[in-house]
Amino acid sequence: MSKFGSDPLSFFNLIYREIPPWDVGGPQPAMSALLTEYPPENPILDVGCGSGDLAIHLAKLGHQVVGIDFVDSAIAHAQEKVGALPSETAQLLNFQVADALQPSLLQMKFGSVVDSGFLHVLDEDQSSRFIRDLALALRPGGRYYLLAFATEFAISNTPRKVTEEELKARFTPENGWSIKDIRSAEFLSRVAPPVAAIGACIERM
Ligand SMILES: C[S@@+](CC[C@H](N)C(=O)[O-])C[C@H]1O[C@@H](n2cnc3c(N)ncnc32)[C@H](O)[C@@H]1O
Repeated sequence: MSKFGSDPLSFFNLIYREIPPWDVGGPQPAMSALLTEYPPENPILDVGCGSGDLAIHLAKLGHQVVGIDFVDSAIAHAQEKVGALPSETAQLLNFQVADALQPSLLQMKFGSVVDSGFLHVLDEDQSSRFIRDLALALRPGGRYYLLAFATEFAISNTPRKVTEEELKARFTPENGWSIKDIRSAEFLSRVAPPVAAIGACIERM
């Protein structure tokens, strides 16, 4: 079972009643840096988009972005932010309440999938299911961008540690993946010092 228990939606619903710790008022800098170095292709899917800052950042750069999260209030907040954007940016954004474990249910092929803190809230089994489904949602040559904790906190309701070894075991050439980059990074928080993180850019072959 994931560290968020048998009903993670209840936990995330509760935490979005206030500003969550990961809502730092913009995209995680380590994710922005990765996307600058490995430019994404459209359309982009933001899995577990929260209140939408990464998707909005990408739309401001001219990208077409679908953001999905299972928390209604997070998506409502993202949509409020869209309302304040110029129409040429707003029209590039589509936020939906959806289960990010199965991106293929959106019935779209994406050029890129960005994951800023989603995989690390999944347990091992959920991660396997998500990655199998991700392969269906990305078109050939499409890229998956990941930022996840690289530190384990021995308490519930915290993300799990994701390692380079795990990524190399999951994203193999035999499974149709090519790892472009794995790097050390930081995950910023509103309420605590930065957490050691792992960033990756992985291509669908
Ligand atoms: C650590 S937060 C990161 C949020 C956002 N990407 C950011 O960087 O601010 C993880 C997000 O994943 C969402 N989430 C967790 N499980 C989900 C699921 N099965 N389907 C959709 N969203 C999910 C949570 O609601 C939360 O917004």
